[in-house]
Amino acid sequence: MKIAIGNDHAAVGLKREIMAYVKELGHEVENYGTDTEDSCHYPLYGKKVADAVASKAADCGILICGTGVGISVAANKVKGIRAAVCSEPVTARLVKEHNNANIIAFGARIVGVEVAKEIVSSYLNAEFLGGRHAERVAMIADLETENFQE
Ligand code: RB5
Repeated sequence: MKIAIGNDHAAVGLKREIMAYVKELGHEVENYGTDTEDSCHYPLYGKKVADAVASKAADCGILICGTGVGISVAANKVKGIRAAVCSEPVTARLVKEHNNANIIAFGARIVGVEVAKEIVSSYLNAEFLGGRHAERVAMIADLETENFQE
């Protein structure tokens, strides 16, 4: 798979570890994040990865900031993006199986490198289950087009 990764200044070290890990797993990874620890604005990097995923330049994305929250909230403003914060591997599997999340996010100030690797592998190995979950994901898409019906 082609994976877009992005981060702010809080996550430069963890981003490097995760890039190496994703390559070890046999995937391609494109770095859209910052590579310095100078204070920066996480919405920039959330948008870059979200645009890569929404335009299909990447199959999915990984976002890392201090908590995973700010950068995922920013990414979720881009049409077609379902970015989910995961602080452990079970959530990472379920956001793919149930929500067809196309980006996962986590916090460099929240999870250590080994948990982060488990989060990434659980997500990448999971498959969307479709069925009733597909109906619900379609409802989320309708929220973006104002076709939403109760
Ligand atoms: C940066 O200090 C921090 O606010 C950011 O990395 C993130 O945690 C925001 O949600």
